[in-house]
Amino acid sequence: MRKKQLNIEYREYYSGEELPVDEAELLKSAAKATHDAYSPYSGFNVGAAVRLDNGEIITANNQENAAYPSGLCAERVAIFYAQAKYPDAAIESLAVTASQKGVPCEMPTLPCGACRQVMAESESRSGKALKIVIGGSRRTMVIESVSGLLPFPFNNLPEKEKEE
Ligand code: THU
Repeated sequence: MRKKQLNIEYREYYSGEELPVDEAELLKSAAKATHDAYSPYSGFNVGAAVRLDNGEIITANNQENAAYPSGLCAERVAIFYAQAKYPDAAIESLAVTASQKGVPCEMPTLPCGACRQVMAESESRSGKALKIVIGGSRRTMVIESVSGLLPFPFNNLPEKEKEE
């Protein structure tokens, strides 16, 4: 038996502090996308933006449905659209933010488990770290890789080398 420990590192910015320009830009695109969310059931508008290694930025938002489980989170709409359009491009970073009744949420909207699993697959598919920027008007978090959000993803791809 071995006891193991995880150490998750991330950056946190507080209102008034400056995010690095590329992260601020992506977050701005995500914030813009909140306005076009289709969220008549929850009233919670989520915007996401992904930056690809081919220079493209794809924005998306949550899409709800009368049959609730048929809707999809902003993050997955963005990732799946990006991968559908540019299957060979790596997703380098993803920004997400939300608003309610037109007011930006103060605290970061942390992605749900299903979105984290989808992010993990994008990362393993490209072999490159996917950075996540989660914005709130009072606080913004930056996590360098999906492993910081989902340390133990399900992975059913053909086995690579297993780490000790
Ligand atoms: N939602 C997202 O789009 N992303 C998240 O990270 C959390 C939740 C959506 C799903 C649903 O349309 C609404 O927010 C309320 O849960």
